[in-house]
Parts: sequence; C-alpha cells; structure tokens
Amino acid sequence: MEMNIALLPGDGIGPEVIAQAVKVVKAVGQKFGHTITFKEGLVGACAIDATGDPYPDATHEICAGSDAVLFGAIGDPKYDNDPKAKVRPEQGLLRMRQKLGLFANVRPTFTFPSLVHKSPLKLDRVDGVDLVFFRELTGGVYFGEPRGRNEQGTKAFDTNVYSKEEIVRLARMGFEAAQKRRKLLTCVDKANVMATSRLWRETVQELAPEYPDVKVEYEFVDAVAMRLIQWPKAYDVLITENLFGDILTDEASVISGSMGLMPSASLGSKVKLFEPIHGSYPQAAGKDIANPLGTVLSASMMFDYAFGLAEEAKLISDVVNLSLAEGVVTEDIAEGGKAHKTSEVGDWLAAKILG
Ligand code: IPM
Ligand code: MG
Repeated sequence: MEMNIALLPGDGIGPEVIAQAVKVVKAVGQKFGHTITFKEGLVGACAIDATGDPYPDATHEICAGSDAVLFGAIGDPKYDNDPKAKVRPEQGLLRMRQKLGLFANVRPTFTFPSLVHKSPLKLDRVDGVDLVFFRELTGGVYFGEPRGRNEQGTKAFDTNVYSKEEIVRLARMGFEAAQKRRKLLTCVDKANVMATSRLWRETVQELAPEYPDVKVEYEFVDAVAMRLIQWPKAYDVLITENLFGDILTDEASVISGSMGLMPSASLGSKVKLFEPIHGSYPQAAGKDIANPLGTVLSASMMFDYAFGLAEEAKLISDVVNLSLAEGVVTEDIAEGGKAHKTSEVGDWLAAKILG
C-alpha cells in the first residue's frame, strides 16, 4: 500500500518521540512491503518562532494532502507563564483539529500485563481495565464565542456551546464502538447544572432506541471522576464533551501506569490524526529520556484506523508489550531497573519488528 504520512513533531519531547515512531513505521513498511512517504511540518511554539503562526498554511497543506498525520506534542513554558501572550502554541493544535474536521478523539485506556503491578491503584481495580473515551474535539468551550475580557480586563468569559448535530455525530461513533465491544455506553455530562449537558443527555436519549443492543448509562462528570479511579472496570465506552474529555483522559492514563503510554486517534474526516495524549514535557526535551510508547502506539492506531491494516497494528502493540515485559523501558516506568534512552527503545522496537 502507498501511504503518505504528515509528521508534525511539534514542541518539547515531540521530535524525540516522533523519531521513534518513524523508526517503527518504517520497519513495518519494510516488513509488509508498504511504500511510505513522510512530509514534515511545523506546529506549535516552534512554528511561532519560525513563522509567527502556530499552524502555518504550509503545514495545513501538508496535512490536508496526506492520508494520516502523526503528531508529537505542543506547548512551551514561556507561553504558559505569560497569560497575556497574544499567540499561543495550543492555538495551532486547536486550529489544526478544526480545519481538518477532527471532531472525535478516541482515547483508549488499558493496562499492560507486565506493568499492572506498578499502577498507583490497587491491582484488583486496574487489572484488565479496557475502556475508551470518545471525546468531542472541535466544539464546546474550546471554540465557543464570545470569549475574552471586559474592557477593564477585570472579567473574563468563555462560552460553552454545542449544537445537536455536533453531539449526534460524536455519540453515533460511541454507540457503534460500544456495539463492537461490551455494549455499554456512558454519557458523561453535568446535566444537573449546564444547558449544554442537558442537550447532550436529551440527544443521546433520542438516539438510544436505534441501538437496542447497547446499554446506556448517564453519569455526572464529577461522579465519573471519582468512579473512574475507584472502579474503572465499570466502564466500556464513554462519550463526552471537549473539556470533560480532556480532564478525564489525563486522569484515566494513571490507570495504565504512565501518561507516556497512552495513544489517541482523532477522526472525523478523510485525514486522520494520531497523537499521544501526553504534553510536551519541556523538562525532558532533548535529553533522550521521554517515553516514546504513547506515540508508537498512536502509530499502531494509525495502521488500524487510517489504513485498515490490523495485522500491522497488532505487530506494533505486540512488540510494545514485549519491550515492557523485557524491561526495555524509559525511566518513567523503569522503577529501579535499567532506564533506557528514548532512542534505544525505538531502535529495539524497530529491530524486533524486522527480526
Ligand atoms: C490534549 C491537550 C490539548 C487539549 C492542549 C495541548 C490544547 O491537553 O490533547 O488533551 O486540551 O486538547
Ligand atoms: Mg489534555
């Protein structure tokens, strides 16, 4: 198969973790006889430095012209500590999601057999967890207008807004995923307080009869925040709005043992995007210590979701599991064992694929 992949390493540890995913993707291409072409673009703080724009048109053209986008991370402390900055790296990511029409962010949470004992949670709670969030990605308070400050600058406001159509298309993806899994869908909202959440709940209630094999539960986001840690096995597919999904998926990553492990896929249009859920981890940038597995597993999702190549996807997740079992891991999960470099983990995975 011919594959055109856009690479957007972004900021912080982004370039290092993307480099490992590229080694793995190339190895898979070689093994299975795929022709893979990479084109690289700038996004985030590095794009602001180079062009003044966190998502330059040139980058959008590369993404729009590709089959899939592999994205690293975005963000730089110099902007985090300057709330008055007019241009922010994160705007690049948001614009990219919006311009590419990526309205659904699929974020699985699962455990790895050889890591499960390292979870800060009790073994019986996390062993065998297998849940997936469908986070709405191009709506809600991230994009709602008006937003800003009053003239004196003493009041600030954001607007949370959802249309029925935005909820329907996300919810349908959740229902369909649940049908292929354990047939349980949880609608996460704050319908006891927010009008947008009441529209979510009402819309999901209307759709439910079309999926009679799926059991639907409705839970408030604060309760989910608690139960997700207390009893994560209670969940299968969770659907939720943009902000709730952002927060809960960071929380859920603790279940697997490290944020560096969790991949994601952003879907909704022809071009699909794959990215680890972690941030740019600026303290580690350039040190060759960051965990590349979230990005490598995002590449695995890419083979599956963007190209329908399940065997290639499985091979990647199998070698990732093998690296964990054999202790070829970075310092965040080494726990007393040898801490391997980011690049060593990537080399090891690529060699195993070809071996
Ligand atoms: C994520 C990140 C982004 C988000 C940031 C970097 C804008 O936290 O992908 O979860 O909030 O969506
Ligand atoms: Mg986040």
